[in-house]
Amino acid sequence: MFTRRLFLANASALLAAATVRPELWARGIMGNSQPATPAVPLLLGVDYYPDQTPESLWEEDAREMADFGFTNVRVAEFAWSLMEPSEGKFDFAWLHRATEILHKHGIAVILGTPSAAPPPWLTEKYPDVLMVNDEGMTVHAGGRRFTCPSNKVYRRLSLAIASEMARAFADTPGVIGWQIDNEFTLQRWGRCYCKFCRAGFQDWLRTKYGTLDAINSKWGTAFWSQVYTDFAQIPVPLPSNGDPNPGLALDYDRYQSFANASFLEEQLVMLRKTCPHHFVTTNNVGAPVDTLDLHELYRNLDFVSHDNYPGFIQIYFSGSPPEMLPLIVGMGHDSMRGVKDGKPFLIMEEQSGKAGQRFFSPQPYKGQLRLWAHQAVAHGAMGVNYFRWDTAASGAEEYWHGVLNHDRSKSAGYDEIQQTLKELKTLGREALESSYSASSAIFFDLDSDWALQIQPGQSKLTYQSHILSWYASIASAHAGVDVVQPDADLSRYKAVFAPLQYVLSEKQAANIRRFVDGGGTFVTSFRLGVKDESSQIVRTPLPGLLRDVMGVTLKDYVPLYGEKVGVTFSSPLSGPDAECALWADLLQPTSATVLARYTGPYAGEAAITINSFGKGKAIYVGADLDAASLARVMASLMETAGIKSSFGIPPGVEMTMRTSGEKRWVFLLNHTSVGQQVTLPGAFTDASSGATHSGKIELKAYDAVVLQPA
Ligand code: GLA
Ligand code: ZN
Repeated sequence: MFTRRLFLANASALLAAATVRPELWARGIMGNSQPATPAVPLLLGVDYYPDQTPESLWEEDAREMADFGFTNVRVAEFAWSLMEPSEGKFDFAWLHRATEILHKHGIAVILGTPSAAPPPWLTEKYPDVLMVNDEGMTVHAGGRRFTCPSNKVYRRLSLAIASEMARAFADTPGVIGWQIDNEFTLQRWGRCYCKFCRAGFQDWLRTKYGTLDAINSKWGTAFWSQVYTDFAQIPVPLPSNGDPNPGLALDYDRYQSFANASFLEEQLVMLRKTCPHHFVTTNNVGAPVDTLDLHELYRNLDFVSHDNYPGFIQIYFSGSPPEMLPLIVGMGHDSMRGVKDGKPFLIMEEQSGKAGQRFFSPQPYKGQLRLWAHQAVAHGAMGVNYFRWDTAASGAEEYWHGVLNHDRSKSAGYDEIQQTLKELKTLGREALESSYSASSAIFFDLDSDWALQIQPGQSKLTYQSHILSWYASIASAHAGVDVVQPDADLSRYKAVFAPLQYVLSEKQAANIRRFVDGGGTFVTSFRLGVKDESSQIVRTPLPGLLRDVMGVTLKDYVPLYGEKVGVTFSSPLSGPDAECALWADLLQPTSATVLARYTGPYAGEAAITINSFGKGKAIYVGADLDAASLARVMASLMETAGIKSSFGIPPGVEMTMRTSGEKRWVFLLNHTSVGQQVTLPGAFTDASSGATHSGKIELKAYDAVVLQPA
């Protein structure tokens, strides 16, 4: 099964190689008093590389992009060596000429600050800026994202080029916004372990804990002789012939998020000052792949943007059942929407052909490119930028397939992308900027994810694969699911799902307690609340802080290594027996009722329980159920919580809804290669063709339809 580490290991091989409403970003550092940004179009654009294209073609490109229907480009995010050919010597003339041509053709420009790939003169002169990987090896220059986020020299030089750029383009007609850096989270080594990060970590710990006594006690350093008597002694978790201290390792994950976010923040503060009328964002990819805390990274940015490559999901999850793939993509979108509490996001890079340069993803089937863009919108996108305009014929991303082929002829997806743009324009601003409607939420909690990577308990147990299977079974109810943090406002949901909520703070426990007490349905899995946020095991019977809410304590917790453990259900979950794969929490009800029991070596022990607490219900799924049983159990629990779509949706078809006031847009997405029929609960109008439908609607293979109640 896929793991993020594996993804990242492979990713390097592949990856090395709207008028947006001003309110959307006016709430950030700028405050609300800023004048409204003039004409920012609907963001239906393309990523463009004038730095890689002969100047003689720029005019033709701009004209063709405009004729095609693109409204904006993103440029220059990897053009540092052209913009600062030697230290302190800046050259933006070429980029000014390019933006002028684009502007003349009515194409708005998002500029990327280039800190993801420094030029050779820089690393040659300042070799200390190079990242050190988790084996202690200094990462070599020549790829990208090979620098340290803590290094002050690298920060100074990154800020210098970004500042010069900002000054040069603050008042340039057509420039509307910024992307800071590029994909902070996606690289072969997601963490730097250099001496500057070590010093930064020590400072960060001093601020967080105040005293060494606090650190020594929280991390339990008395054992293995790890008591620190000076902050300067604290190491980073590099190989040391024994596992790192788990408290230290978890804090180091957090520090790396902080280091990257504060690196970004330096550029952001500058951009707010120099370009107060421009929006600012950065791009990543969604859960479960990202390695940094995106809430921290995006905190002061105007909106989320991310990169959508279903082709990569096809490659990296090729061992998963094919019907999982669109769900994984959907979860990525939902997680990114969650980063800014549901606000519409921008797709900064949308796949436009075969993805990849060393290995290629499959050629998207006819309809899939349109489907994938509609899927992004269905999950909350306000705009889509395609990656990329032309296919790279040389250089670091040679082969990456764009809207144009390498010989500049139309790619296989050209017409389909053009049609998609037309449809999204017809859908219009109100729909693209509307809200996503969700009746339930699933936690995506990096503390639990990281703590389980540090100590999985069972060697195959991963947070990523577990949360994916839970997400898949919940999303299949077609009633909308938000991906949120455990301290989010839960009052808006009927049901909240918390798979593998291994780390639980007092604040989070109180939030869950309030939700259930108020009438919500809370569903959790094994390993609930084992650790506090310092990575210490709670000193009470498990599940620690939520014992009363769940109405159980744990008799024991059992990692499974192939022994045959089954689960047998009773009413109201009655159905075929399940298999229990990697883990079994053996539950001892205090006030809860048993819904399922183990068979095999733990026969008779409680496996699933339900408890009434306040006005709500709390369900503990102690067994690692096989996918089919999990889906069945979740469907039943959701129905009991009042979550059921009024549409009749066949497997392989996805439904989501966006709303604005009284208006509704229903997205039906057929991810299968054959026609499908959806049963409608009333009369609807096709938002694009105006045709009306009631009773049933036919979806062609890979079709996407947007309906509004008639
Ligand atoms: C990423 C990056 C782009 C480009 C594409 C294609 O998502 O952000 O710069 O490299 O992948 O590989
Ligand atoms: Zn470093």
